[in-house]
Amino acid sequence: MTTVRPRNDPAQYDDLAASWWDGRGPFAMLHWIAEARARLVPQATHEASVLVDIACGGGLLAPHLAGKGHRHVGVDLSPTATAVARRHGVAAVRGDAQRLPLADACADVVVAGEVLEHVPDLDAAVSEACRVLRPGGTLVVDTIAATWFGRFSSITVGERLPGGPPRRLHDPALYVDRDRLVRVAAAHGVVLSLAGLRPSVPDYLAWVTGRRDRARMVPTRSTAGLFQAHGRKATP
Ligand SMILES: C[S@@+](CC[C@H](N)C(=O)[O-])C[C@H]1O[C@@H](n2cnc3c(N)ncnc32)[C@H](O)[C@@H]1O
Repeated sequence: MTTVRPRNDPAQYDDLAASWWDGRGPFAMLHWIAEARARLVPQATHEASVLVDIACGGGLLAPHLAGKGHRHVGVDLSPTATAVARRHGVAAVRGDAQRLPLADACADVVVAGEVLEHVPDLDAAVSEACRVLRPGGTLVVDTIAATWFGRFSSITVGERLPGGPPRRLHDPALYVDRDRLVRVAAAHGVVLSLAGLRPSVPDYLAWVTGRRDRARMVPTRSTAGLFQAHGRKATP
C-alpha cells in the first residue's frame, strides 16, 4: 500500500530512496538539472578545494563534478539520501540547510540545488549558504519561483508528466520569491545573477519515447519557473 503524505513531507525522499539513480524514475529531471548546475561550478583553484552540496540528495551532482577538482561534501536532512550519496563518493552528512553543521567560510563553492523551494525559512537557508562560503567563493542555486507559472509548470503540469516531480513533493507556499533571494544573498555579500531553465523540448520528446536516456536543460529568458542563480562572495 502506498502512503499518501502531506505536501513537502521530507519522508517522501525516504520512500523514494531506491529511485535516486534511476534515470527513468521519479527523479529523472533532477539528473538533467544536476548537469546544468555543474556547468556553473568553476574549476578548483587549489588542491584542497571544497564544494558543499546543500541538500545533496542521492548525490546526483557527483558525476558532473568529475575533473573539476573539488572535494564533494554533502549535507541533507534525509538519512537514506545521505547513505545513497556516500555510495556515490560524496562525503555526505545529515543536517538542515537552515542550520548547517559546517564552519564559517569552509567552502570554495556552495551549491543549493532544488532545495530552497522546500525550506520553511528561506532567509535562514540563504544566509547559511553564504556563511559557509569563503570570500571569493561561488554560490550556485537552482529552485522554483513563487509565481503562477512556477506553480503551473511544476505542479499542475509537471506532476502529471513523465520525468516531472513526484506528486505532492512540492508545497507551492514555499516557492522562492526571487527578489527576496537576491536581497538576502546580497546582504551576505553575494550578488546573484538569475537565468531561467527548462528541458529542451526535442530532447524531452526523445527521452519520453526512449530515444534518449536524458534531456538537456536549456536557458530561458524568463525566471518565472525553474531558474538558476549564481554569484561570487565579495572579498573584504
Ligand atoms: C528535490 S531533492 C534535490 C536533491 C539534490 N540537490 C538534487 O538536485 O539531486 C530535495 C532534497 O532536499 C532535502 N531537504 C529538504 N529539506 C531540507 C532541509 N531543510 N535541509 C537539508 N536538506 C533538505 C531532501 O531530503 C532532498 O534530498
